[in-house]
Amino acid sequence: MRATVSGVDIAYEDAGRGVPLLLVHGFPLDRTMWAEQVAALAGGAGPGAPAVVSHATAGSPAGPRARVIAPDLRGFGESAAPRGPVSIETYARDAAALLDHLGIERAVVGGLSMGGYVAFAFARLWPRRVRALLLCDTRAAADTAEARRGRFDMIDLVQREGPAAVAERMLPRLFAAETFEGRPEIVERTRVAIERASVEGIAAALGALADRPDATPSLPAIACPTLFVVGEHDAIAPPAEAAAIVAEIPDARLLVVPHAGHMAPLENPGAVNAALQEFLRGLGEEPRA
Ligand code: MLT
Repeated sequence: MRATVSGVDIAYEDAGRGVPLLLVHGFPLDRTMWAEQVAALAGGAGPGAPAVVSHATAGSPAGPRARVIAPDLRGFGESAAPRGPVSIETYARDAAALLDHLGIERAVVGGLSMGGYVAFAFARLWPRRVRALLLCDTRAAADTAEARRGRFDMIDLVQREGPAAVAERMLPRLFAAETFEGRPEIVERTRVAIERASVEGIAAALGALADRPDATPSLPAIACPTLFVVGEHDAIAPPAEAAAIVAEIPDARLLVVPHAGHMAPLENPGAVNAALQEFLRGLGEEPRA
């Protein structure tokens, strides 16, 4: 599906019925990374889903259903490229505008890594619109000076050599070694998603990542139930950092996902979907206004 939100042509998935669940992808991916969550929670095949969804990905048949909204952020997947600089807040505003377009006031807001930064910004800007938070393989801290330099190197790389070179550099770090070495179909699917991104989209996102604020001071103010999932081998947003974030959020729980690195929902969807279904079940009915 497509919509013009905040003046930008955005592609998105809107599948299933039930509690609205916004899922924001990581850098430099797109909404297809959530295919297994769409399949399990919304009952659809999901964007770019594998032809066969195994039991490990399916989740419990008795599990709660969700209406999964998964946008391609501007410049990624099938969404139009940004025309100038963006910030993490720009992406959060796009996501809120998409929910407005769909008539959704409150949602469970989730994101992986950069998508988690977007979820933090969304929760800071519109706490009442967030029924619950799902944080996957993400960080609260801002970039160090060294990490910022790495962003500017990567802007040079994408401008010189294109998204394929970014994929080549990033892929080994995104996965647990057992995934990278033993499950080429997942790695290739992710490479294809990265290569779909535009040069402008990747460069603008790197600027947004470099300039993002430190979300740590706002963690104690997050009042909604929060589920944090992190791959046990995540080298980019490690479990110890996830535990420190969870300790700061009043109503948060942590799942360390076995056999997974930075892409836990993709590498071990069975474990992530089961935890997400239990989390959604625990939210109960939306209180009536
Ligand atoms: C992501 O997966 O979105 C990126 O690793 C985020 C980052 O580089 O900070």
